[in-house]
Amino acid sequence: MGRKIPHSFIQELLSRVDIVDIVSHYLTLKQVGRNFTALCPFHAERTPSFVVSPEKQIFKCFGCGVGGNAITFVEKYENLSFPEAVKRVAELAGIELPSAFSEDEKVTEVEEAGLTAAKYFHSELHQISHYLEERGVSQIEAERFLIGFAPRGYARKLNIKTEVAKELGLLNERGKEFFAERLIIPIFSHSGKVIAFAGRTLKKESSLPKYVNSPESSLFKKNSTLYGFYQAKETIMKERKVFIVEGYFDVISLHQLGVRNCVAPMGTSLTENHVRIIKRYAEKPVLMFDGDKAGRKATLRSAGLFLQKGVEPFVIRLPEEEDPDSLSRKNPSRMRELLSSPLPFIDWSILVAKELEETEKPTFLREVAQVVAPLKTLNPFIYKHYISKLSAEFGIEESWIRLNSYTFRHRKEEGTVENPVPPHEKAFLRALLEGKFQLPLEVSPNIFVSSEVSRVYSIIRNSEFQDPTLLQAEFPELSSFISEVLFSDFSEEEMKMAVCRILCKELERRLKKLNDFKEKKELKNLIFSLRRGNLNALTCALSRTTN
Ligand code: UTP
Ligand code: MN
Repeated sequence: MGRKIPHSFIQELLSRVDIVDIVSHYLTLKQVGRNFTALCPFHAERTPSFVVSPEKQIFKCFGCGVGGNAITFVEKYENLSFPEAVKRVAELAGIELPSAFSEDEKVTEVEEAGLTAAKYFHSELHQISHYLEERGVSQIEAERFLIGFAPRGYARKLNIKTEVAKELGLLNERGKEFFAERLIIPIFSHSGKVIAFAGRTLKKESSLPKYVNSPESSLFKKNSTLYGFYQAKETIMKERKVFIVEGYFDVISLHQLGVRNCVAPMGTSLTENHVRIIKRYAEKPVLMFDGDKAGRKATLRSAGLFLQKGVEPFVIRLPEEEDPDSLSRKNPSRMRELLSSPLPFIDWSILVAKELEETEKPTFLREVAQVVAPLKTLNPFIYKHYISKLSAEFGIEESWIRLNSYTFRHRKEEGTVENPVPPHEKAFLRALLEGKFQLPLEVSPNIFVSSEVSRVYSIIRNSEFQDPTLLQAEFPELSSFISEVLFSDFSEEEMKMAVCRILCKELERRLKKLNDFKEKKELKNLIFSLRRGNLNALTCALSRTTN
C-alpha cells in the first residue's frame, strides 16, 4: 500500500538535510573532534557510544551496533514506517514534499473516512445517553474520546466506499455491518487519526462478545497501538510517567479523574513494541491490572518486558473484583490514593509472594528472579537492590536467586529494532517446552521467522527433551527469551492451532519437493485438514506409512 517515494527524492532530501540538525531535534549532542556523541537512545548506557558523523552524514552506536542515515534515525527513533520517516525528515528540515507523493491518497481517504464515521457515531450518542449516565461518563470525556453509537443501517448513512469501510472494519468481509447497535470507541493512531474502532455491546445478558474490534489493517497494528496514547501524550511527556491499564473504559475513567497519562493495549497483552514506544516518552511505567491471578500473571509478563529494556516498572495493586474504571466511580479518593503510591516492582513481588501459599511461592519467586535477570547488565544498581531485598525478605541465598536469573548476553534485539516473534511461533514453542504436544514429524528449523525460535527448536530437537530451566541454564543467552515464551498467554487451543500451523508450513515445504501426483494430492489433503486444526489426520497418515 502507498505510493513509492522516488529514489531521487530520497537522495535529494539526504543531500539537503544535515544529520546533526535532525538528530539534535531528539538528542543533546556533544561535539568531540570531528564528530558528535550522545547517549544511545536505542539501548541503555551510561557512557556515550552513539556517534554522529557530519562528514559521512551517518550515525552509529558502537554499543549496540545500530546505525544509518538521517531518515533511518527518525524511522527508528519515532517508530515510523520508512515513507513516514521521509515525510517527517522533510518536515523537520522545512523542505516541501513534491505534491505527487506528499500524501498517500489511499491512506488519506481511509483516515478521512475514519474521522467522518467517528463523528457520525458521536452525533448519534444521544440514543444511548442513559448508558453513559449509568457508567458515569461525562460529556467532556465523551467528546475527548469521540465516543459514539452505531445505529443499524449506518453503512448506508455514511456513504463510504465499501473497500474503505472494510479497511476500517466498519463492514466485515461479507459486507455486514460489524458494529451495529454497539457503543463505539474510535481508536486513534498516535498522531490522532481515526484508524479503527472498538464496539461495546449494550446488552446486559448476551452471548455476543462484550467488545469487538476492527481487524488489523495497513494502518492499524494492535501491537504498536496504545489506546488513549494520542490523548495522553502531552501529559506523559510532561510527567515522564505513564499508567498502563487493561481496558478502554479504564483509560476513559482515569482521564475523567484528571489522570491523563494513561493508556491501554488493544484488548491484547502488552508487547515489546508498546514498551519501546512507552520507553521513549516516559521513564516510569506504572502497571495497573486486575487484582486477580490473571492480573498478576499479566503484571509479571509486562514488567518483564520493561525490565528487558533496563526500565524499572512500578505496580499498583487494585482490590480484587475492581478495575480502575469501577474503583474510580465507587471510590474516587481511594483510587487517587492508590495512583499516588505505586510500588516498585520488587516490593510488589514481595507483597504478592507473602500472600501466596507455600507451595506456589518458589515458582513465583523463580519467575521474579527470571524477569529481573536482564537488569544485571542493564541496570546493575537496581539489580543489586532487588536481590538483596529478596534475600532479606525470604531468607533465601543470593546465589539461588542469581542461579535463577541468567542474563542474556549480546541479545541481538538489544537496541536494534528487530522483528517481533510471530505469536504462533511463540505459541508453538511454548507447547513444545511444556510437553503439551508431541510433534509427529520433524520440521526444518529454517521455516521459522524468528531466529530465536529456530535456535531453541534446534536445541530441543537435537537433545533429549529438556526441562526449560535446564535449557536456560545451558544456554544463558536464550534464557530471557525462553522466560518470555513461558510467560506468554496462550490457551490450549491457541497452542494446538500454532502446532498445526507450523506443521502445515513444513508440509508445504515438503510439497514443493514432490513430483508424484498421488503423493502430492495426499499431502495437500493433509495440509487441508491441518488448517482446520485436525492433528489426528497427520498422526494417522504417519502411522499408516510407518506400519
Ligand atoms: P474486560 O472484560 O476487563 O472489560 O476487558 P472492561 O474493560 O472492564 O470493560 P467494561 O468496563 O465492562 O466495559 C478488558 C479489555 O479487553 C478487551 C477490551 O479492550 C477491554 O477493554 N476485550 C474484552 C475485547 O477486546 N473483547 C472482549 O470481548 C472483551
Ligand atoms: Mn470495566
